[in-house]
Amino acid sequence: MWGIASSVSASAAEVSPRDRIRLDAGWRFHPGDPPGIDGRLDYDVRPEVVRSADGKVADARPDEAVRIAADRPVLKPWILPTANRFIRDPAARHVRPRAEPSIGDVPFLDAGFDDSGWTPVTLPHDWAIAGPFIAEGPYGGMGRLPSWGIGWYRRTLDIPATHAGRRVYLDVDGAMSYASVWLNGALVGGWPYGYNSWRVDLTPYVAFGGVNQLAIRLDNPPESARWYPGGGLYRDVWLTTTAPVHVAQWGTTVTTPEVSEASANVHVRVEIDNTTDAPVRVQVETALHVLGEEGKPQAEPVARIPALGVDVVAGGTTAVTSGTRIDRPRLWGPPPNQQPHRYVAVTTLLRDGEVVDRVETRFGIRRLEFDPDRGVVVNGEHLPLRGVNQHHDLGALGAAFNVRAAQRQLEILRGMGVNAIRMAHNPPDPQLLELTDRMGFLVVDEVFDSWEKKKTPLDFHLIFPDWHEADLRAMLRRDRNHPSVILWSVGNEVGEQYDGEAGAAIGRRLVRIVREEDPTRPTTASMNWAKADMPFPAAFDVVNLNYQGEGIRQEPEFEGTERIRTPPSYPAFRAAFPDKVLMGSETASAASSRGVYLFPVTPRNSAPIRDDNGGGDAARQHVSAYELHAVDFGSSADRVFATLDRNPYVAGEFVWNGFDYLGEPTPYYSARSSYTGIVDLAGFPKDRYYLYQSRWRPDLPMAHILPHWNWPGREGEVTPVHVFTSGDEGELFVNGVSQGRKRKGQSEYRLRWDEVVYQPGEVRVRTWRDGAPWAEARVETTGAPARLALEADRDRIGNDGRDLSFVTLRVLDAQGRAIRNAENLVQFEVEGPVELVATDNGDPRDLTAFPSPARKAFSGLALAIVRGRAGESGTATVRVRSEGLAPAELRLHVGAP
Ligand code: GAL
Repeated sequence: MWGIASSVSASAAEVSPRDRIRLDAGWRFHPGDPPGIDGRLDYDVRPEVVRSADGKVADARPDEAVRIAADRPVLKPWILPTANRFIRDPAARHVRPRAEPSIGDVPFLDAGFDDSGWTPVTLPHDWAIAGPFIAEGPYGGMGRLPSWGIGWYRRTLDIPATHAGRRVYLDVDGAMSYASVWLNGALVGGWPYGYNSWRVDLTPYVAFGGVNQLAIRLDNPPESARWYPGGGLYRDVWLTTTAPVHVAQWGTTVTTPEVSEASANVHVRVEIDNTTDAPVRVQVETALHVLGEEGKPQAEPVARIPALGVDVVAGGTTAVTSGTRIDRPRLWGPPPNQQPHRYVAVTTLLRDGEVVDRVETRFGIRRLEFDPDRGVVVNGEHLPLRGVNQHHDLGALGAAFNVRAAQRQLEILRGMGVNAIRMAHNPPDPQLLELTDRMGFLVVDEVFDSWEKKKTPLDFHLIFPDWHEADLRAMLRRDRNHPSVILWSVGNEVGEQYDGEAGAAIGRRLVRIVREEDPTRPTTASMNWAKADMPFPAAFDVVNLNYQGEGIRQEPEFEGTERIRTPPSYPAFRAAFPDKVLMGSETASAASSRGVYLFPVTPRNSAPIRDDNGGGDAARQHVSAYELHAVDFGSSADRVFATLDRNPYVAGEFVWNGFDYLGEPTPYYSARSSYTGIVDLAGFPKDRYYLYQSRWRPDLPMAHILPHWNWPGREGEVTPVHVFTSGDEGELFVNGVSQGRKRKGQSEYRLRWDEVVYQPGEVRVRTWRDGAPWAEARVETTGAPARLALEADRDRIGNDGRDLSFVTLRVLDAQGRAIRNAENLVQFEVEGPVELVATDNGDPRDLTAFPSPARKAFSGLALAIVRGRAGESGTATVRVRSEGLAPAELRLHVGAP
C-alpha cells in the first residue's frame, strides 16, 4: 500500500525505479456539487435537454437554440491539454491558459474540508448500480438507474519527501465521465470520454512529504448514451511514480512482422520521456521471456535485444526501435486447436549504469491474415468468427469492472463455442483484454458509437471535434500489444454513413490515425445503412455489416414503412469489394425472455416481435423463448445461419448479443435491461444458447428441448416442441409415444414438432448424426415447489476484496427436479467472511434493486453474487429461504488467492 511506503525511510537507491500502486481503498464519495457552484466547474456549456410533456426528449430543436449561458466560464481550456500527447500535429496541441480558472471558493477542493460525512467507497465504484430503479418515465434506454449527475471522489495521497524529483502520475483506467482532477486545490487536467484510459501528471502540484489532497469531479450528462453507462470511478485508478527519465505511458510497442514455425522477428519500440531540461543519454535493453502460467516472466529469457544507447531530447520524447529473433516461437492462437501462448518483453532503462526504469510488456506471436475468400486466418488456421457483441456492464454489478465477473462471462460464452468478441461500442477495461489474451478470444476493439452526429442529445458527438484524435490514439496505444485484438473499429452505425463523401472523409481520417499508430491490423466501421456503392464502406479495410447481410425489414409486414428496408446485401458488397473481408459485425438482435414461451408459435423461422404472432406479450413485457423473433430490423439466429451458409466467403458473425445488458430493453422500454442477449443479465443461458452451441460446437453431442413441460390448463392444446441439437436427426416422444422422426433440411437449424399436444408427463428426444446415435434429452412435468437448492460456480474464493462466487438458486419439487417456471420469492443471507453484493434473476422487468437480498425466482432461477471480504479467511455460509419451502445452504472457503 502507498501509505506504508511513507513510513519507510528509503534512500533514493532503495526507491524502486517505478511504482504502480492501485488506489482502491480510502476514497470518499459525494453526489452533487457543493451549494452555489452554478456550473462554474463544468467542462463546457452543453445543450439543454428539453423534454416534451410525455417525458420524451424533444430532439427537434437545433442545439444552438437551446445552448445555455454560452458566455459563462468553463474548464475546457484547462482540461484539453491532457490530450496533447495524443495530438500528432504540434500546432494543434492545446496550451494551458496562463491563469488558473476563476472558480471561486470550492470547499470540496480544500484539504481542510471535512469529508467524514461522505460515503466511504472502494474502487471500482459505480454510483448508480445500487438504484433504486426509476420505475416511471422514459428512462428504459439508460437502464432506469440514476447514472447521470455530478459526483465527487476525495482521497489523500501520501507522497514521501524521498520522492522529490520523481514524476508522479495518476492513471485512470476509466471514469464515467467528464472527469476533472484536482490536487491540492489546483486543476491538474481531466478526460471527458468515460470509456478511455488516461493519465494526468500530478508532479507540479505534489507536496512531497506533505499532505496531498486529491479530488476528482465527474459530471455524467443525462441522455448521454443509448444504454446504461454507469457512473463514477468504475475502473481502477493507479498512482505511478517514475524517475524523471522513464518509459512513456504505453511507451512500448511490440510487433512481430515475420512469423513462421521456425522463427519470429520481434520488434520493440520504446518511447522515452525526458522530463529534465537537459538532453540525457540512456541505455535501453529488452529481454524477451515466456510468460509463465502465474503471469510472471519465466526466469531465463528466450532472446535479448542488446543495450542500445539513446540520446533523449530535453523536455521531450525520443523513440527507439530494435529487434531480435525468437526461434521456434510458441504461437498465440485460439483454442481448441491452438493455445494462447504469450511472451513478455522486459525493458530496462539505464542512466549512468543505474537502472532508472523497467517495464513489462506482454505480447503474443501470431500470424494474422484477412482472406477475402475465407475470412480470418490465424497461424494458417481458418477461424470462422463465432462471435458475440458485449456491452461493458456486468449485470447486477453494473459498470464497476470485476475480473472474475468478466472471466465468468467469457467462460459461459466459450461453453457455447464463442471464439470472438466485439467490444460494443467502446474501449473495454484493460483487464478484459488481458483475459481475452489469456483465454484466446479474437477481439474487435471499437472506439466510438457516434462521431459528429448524435444518437442521443448529449453523447460523444458533443466532443468529437476536440477529442476524437486523442481518444482514438489513446485506445490504440493502450491496446495494440494485445494479441487478441485483430481489428480496430472506429465507429458503430454512425450518422455519417448518410453523408456521402463528407462522412467517408471523416472515416478516412480516423483510418489514417489507426495506420499511424498500428499498421499491423486492419480497420473497419460497422454499417447498418451505407450501401456497397456509396463512398462510406470504401474508407475501411474490412466491411462490417450490421443486419444488412440477412436483409432488414424484408417481411411483408414492413411493406411501405418509412424505416430502413434493405435486401440481403452480402452479395452486393462482395461484388463491390472482392478484395475485402466481409463480416456480420451485428447479426440477429433476436430477443427472448428466458424460459417464457408464448402461443401460438409462429410457423415462420424468423419474425418480428408482435402480440399477434406469438412473439411478444406487451402487457407482461415478455418476448417468447421459442427463439424465433427478432427486433424489427433483425433476424432469428436460424435465418442468420442460413444467410452465412449461402455466403461462405463471409468471415462469420458477431451476434447481437452475448449477455443481456442494462438499458435498451427493446421492445419494452418499461423494463430495465435488454432482451437480445443469448445469456440473460444474471448469466443464465436462454434456450438460444443451445442453438448457437449446436452450430458452433458441432462435435459436442448435445440436444436441448424447449419449452418446459409444466402447462396446467393447456391439456389437449397444441404446444410445439423444438429441439436444438448438433445431431442431424431426431425422434421425439411424449409419454413414450413417438411424435415422429425428423431430419434437418436445407437451411434448417432446429428440429420442430409443431403439432405436439400437451399432456403432462415426459418429453424425450433421441438424436442421430450421420445415422449413428448422438445425444438425448428430456424434460418432465414437475410437481409443486418443495425445496430450494444452491450451487456455487466456485466454492473457494480469494480474499483480495474482489473475488466473487456466483451462487445459483433453483426451486425444486419434492422429487428434487428443478422447476423451470418457478417464481417463488426467496431471501438470501450470508454469514462469515463474505458479503452479499447483489442478487438477480435475469428478468428484464424486475425493478427490485440489485443489492436486495430478497429476490423472486424467474423461470426457476435466481442468482446471488457473493464477495470474499478483504483480508479475511475462513468458511462462509450462504443460505436461502422461502416461505413454505425447505431452505438450502452452502459453504464457501475464503482465503488467500
Ligand atoms: C444496433 C446497434 C446496437 C444495438 C442493437 C440493438 O443497431 O448497433 O448498439 O442498439 O442495434 O438491437
